[in-house]
Amino acid sequence: MNKITLSSLQALKQKGEPITVATAYDSTFALLQELAGIEAILVGDSLGNVLQGHGTTVPVTMEHMCYHIANVARGCQVPFIIGDLPYMSYATKQQAYENAAKLMQAGANMVKLEGGQWLCDTIAGLTERGIPVCAHLGLTPQSVDALGGFKVQGRDESAAQQLIDDAKAIAASGAKLLVLECVPQALAAKVTQQLSIPTIGIGAGVECDGQVLVMHDLLGLNPNFSPKFVKNFMPEGDGSVLGAFKAYVEQVKSRQFPTTQHSFN
Ligand code: KIV
Repeated sequence: MNKITLSSLQALKQKGEPITVATAYDSTFALLQELAGIEAILVGDSLGNVLQGHGTTVPVTMEHMCYHIANVARGCQVPFIIGDLPYMSYATKQQAYENAAKLMQAGANMVKLEGGQWLCDTIAGLTERGIPVCAHLGLTPQSVDALGGFKVQGRDESAAQQLIDDAKAIAASGAKLLVLECVPQALAAKVTQQLSIPTIGIGAGVECDGQVLVMHDLLGLNPNFSPKFVKNFMPEGDGSVLGAFKAYVEQVKSRQFPTTQHSFN
């Protein structure tokens, strides 16, 4: 199997075939995800929650991200690797360039950052410099305090319109992927139809071009965390981690996951 590239992901959107994404933070789980056929691995700053035990992603640093991206990159050959730029590491364009370069040198194929139109210049600059960018809209966990908690975003008309405008602006600036987190399914569907780049949903309904879940959630590892957009695939994987990753891939590809039960209105 050849390495997955941005063109492969774009081709999946063109074909209408859902893109499978999961987070991983080390080489062993990266290999298992590769064997299961997961197309893209997000080394997310969610590692602040699931590995480090923090309540938010705010404490995650560049050093943490580089370490985990390098571990994932050593563990797999095929999946496309997306690395999160952590909190305040892209507050200025110059910081974004320097820190994105570090993530790419650690083994990422693309960097992800959270936010809308204020990032357009940064996205354009990174793109011009050959660094592919994934944007992240909706519930952006690095801004949890400004958002007033982990809440569904884009529910009223003006917030929904703002999200659509942000999505179009960042795509026009060169972003090649867009994560939509915790937004009403109708809004995510509208954004997906209006953009030529793939959308990857988490709590964003059934019509995104792809799905992402935090690995620990899809393995049902935290009994205290079960929001409606999460599904534990462990039982369907006959209790094996590889089986659970395979069940996730099968159900995303066949559009059995997510369902409207995992979605917000
Ligand atoms: O950090 C992360 O894992 C993420 C996903 C929740 C999309 O950004």
